[in-house]
Amino acid sequence: MTSPSLVWTSRGWSNDAAPWIPVGDLAAHHGFGFFETLRAYRGRVFRPDDHFARMARSARAFRVKLPLDAGGFRRAAADLLQKHGNPDARVRLTVTAGPPPLAAIQVLPLAPPSDAAYRRGVSVWLAPWIRCTRSALAGHKSLNYFENYWARTEGERRGHFEALFLNERGELSEGTRANVFWADRGRVFTPALSTGILSGVTRTALLEILRARRVPVEECACGPGALFEAREAFLASTIVEVLPVVSVGRRRIGNGRPGPLAALLRREFRRKVGRELAGAGR
Ligand SMILES: Cc1ncc(COP(=O)(O)O)c(C=O)c1O
Repeated sequence: MTSPSLVWTSRGWSNDAAPWIPVGDLAAHHGFGFFETLRAYRGRVFRPDDHFARMARSARAFRVKLPLDAGGFRRAAADLLQKHGNPDARVRLTVTAGPPPLAAIQVLPLAPPSDAAYRRGVSVWLAPWIRCTRSALAGHKSLNYFENYWARTEGERRGHFEALFLNERGELSEGTRANVFWADRGRVFTPALSTGILSGVTRTALLEILRARRVPVEECACGPGALFEAREAFLASTIVEVLPVVSVGRRRIGNGRPGPLAALLRREFRRKVGRELAGAGR
């Protein structure tokens, strides 16, 4: 058995074998709390302030007082990563609603998609369940991710990498752990925030890259037909970065092979990460 991994908590250092949420915490009862998944590149996390700001927005919306601030989070994550040997890793910040609210930071294995997945592309499943724009939880990375977890699990059981949700208006929204983009006739599309999606840190970075390159890009509210007819499509998230999608259910996207835009954006995204982590700003 491997030894328990060191974990930072707002009550002191701990490890992942130790209990940390009291039985009465609202996170345990109702999934009331928030989380962020960040990616560390050789021990340095990408855009920690953006991830923290997203959580802080949710905490304000649900009147939870976060037990740490952005600076405290940055320092604790850096300290924890250093104690783990500055790896490439997934860094998870979890905050429970309490009372009192508690925070934990974990360094976890990265487990990105395989090289073959990037080379060949992946398929996604249209989930039969909807993302509801009028849900109190829409757009929040709450601990109540059971719906996302279940759609992904059912998608995986059918041989798909990810599941996509339509919203109650029939508009494409997002995946269970990623935003979605597609390209057609020189234009790039991604569902608008009004479709009920999480405002992805990766999505924002890709929009910056596209706009800087003057690629026409549209944040849209459209049905799945737009995706079916696209030349190429891809998922965007902290963990997958930019991952080509080559089919939706049984429908092939474009020629059924990863497209050039996904490859270019993955390269450009990696460059951006490298530049920012080297301290060169955005
Ligand atoms: C539902 C959902 N949408 C989009 C994303 C992508 O967000 P980010 O780029 O910040 O990882 C995630 C990330 O986990 C997510 O859970």
